[in-house]
Amino acid sequence: MDKKQPGISTIRVSARGEDFRVVQVSGNLFVCSKENGSCCCGWEEKGRLPVANSQWSDEWERRGIRNRLHLTFSGCLGPCVSGNNALLQIHGQSIWLFDLNDPSLIGAVFDYAEQMLAAGAIVSPPGELEAHIQERYLHPGHNAWRTFGQTMEPDGGDGLDRLDPVCLMDVDPDTAKHRVEYEGRTIVFCAPACKKQFLAAPESFLPVFAGG
Ligand code: FES
Repeated sequence: MDKKQPGISTIRVSARGEDFRVVQVSGNLFVCSKENGSCCCGWEEKGRLPVANSQWSDEWERRGIRNRLHLTFSGCLGPCVSGNNALLQIHGQSIWLFDLNDPSLIGAVFDYAEQMLAAGAIVSPPGELEAHIQERYLHPGHNAWRTFGQTMEPDGGDGLDRLDPVCLMDVDPDTAKHRVEYEGRTIVFCAPACKKQFLAAPESFLPVFAGG
């Protein structure tokens, strides 16, 4: 008897000397989560919408898409200043979602993901998500790459002096509480821990200011 469920595809993976079956899915949604160690997303005291993991996972379970879209709660995804953030990887495309600070956007993200699951393809984001999707990754310079979401012009290095060189957070130099004067420049930090890390090995962080 064929026990394989309709619509489920598995691959055989060897690990630790044994064979296992791993279900293939169409995508994965990564949600930056305070409960999972984020430093900004979900922190009400930092001006972000407080979101419990269950607000995402209940919606995910309710839709019954577990076997097609995996849900992962993560620590910091990187671009903290724009949090709450999430990353949807689906049909081979990475879709960055920023500023998810309205509870209705959780449902909108799943609606969008389900639309793409049904279509078997990447489709344009709905109007309510358009302003929240922006390409984060650098273009690797080959034609197979598809930039996704709003495209903003790089600022040509104008913003480098605002970066905490340790965690790469954007810090307002006018209000930064943590700073050092180093080799003729003022370097700002988001927190004492970053400042301490910088002072322990400044040379390893200075390349950040060289720009691209
Ligand atoms: S804390 Fe969410 S992206 Fe850094």
